[in-house]
Amino acid sequence: MLVTLEGIDGSGKTTAWEALHDSHPDLTYTAEPTDSWYGEAVRRSLADDDADPMADLFLFTADHADHLSRVVRPALERGEVVVSDRYSDSRYAYQGASLAGVIKRPMEYVRGIHQPFTRPPDATIYFDVDPQVGAERAGATDKFEAAGYLAAVQENYETLVGYEPERFVRVDAEQSPEAVLEAVEDALDRILDG
Ligand code: TMP
Repeated sequence: MLVTLEGIDGSGKTTAWEALHDSHPDLTYTAEPTDSWYGEAVRRSLADDDADPMADLFLFTADHADHLSRVVRPALERGEVVVSDRYSDSRYAYQGASLAGVIKRPMEYVRGIHQPFTRPPDATIYFDVDPQVGAERAGATDKFEAAGYLAAVQENYETLVGYEPERFVRVDAEQSPEAVLEAVEDALDRILDG
């Protein structure tokens, strides 16, 4: 089973993912961008305010393809439960927003290039936080963290939730960190119980 954690920057997603290592130690934890050289290329592009958004898309997508073949598919074949901090929905939401005005129907385009090769998540925990709160928490250290941009990303996430409401479990990420963690652990337990 593949479970993903998604949400805008500053939603507390990574903190929860780290805490799950202790509460659910038997699962396989991974993340995008990865720590491979593809992931390093992605981070270089993230730090470059002038990076072309199309180039960004294909770097993130290359990192995803490598992540799938090197980590996710082998783990699933071994029967492991994989928990990924960000996955394909991050591309649909973020690059869907950064390509607005560059190409037509950007989110559909990004979903379309993944469709032939990706392995969709079985369940996704969605960390719901106001974009202003997310931007403040994230401290806006890279180009994708400004509140206006995060609002567009959040709108895309909401569209994705609307497409597949049964896949998503929404967590109110504006609660205290302890309450968020408890909600995430509950959501994961319910997902694992089927
Ligand atoms: P992180 O903060 O979760 O490590 O992600 C780094 C940044 O990259 C974050 O602002 C979200 C963004 N991102 C994308 O724009 N597209 C993607 O496909 C992924 C995985 C992350």
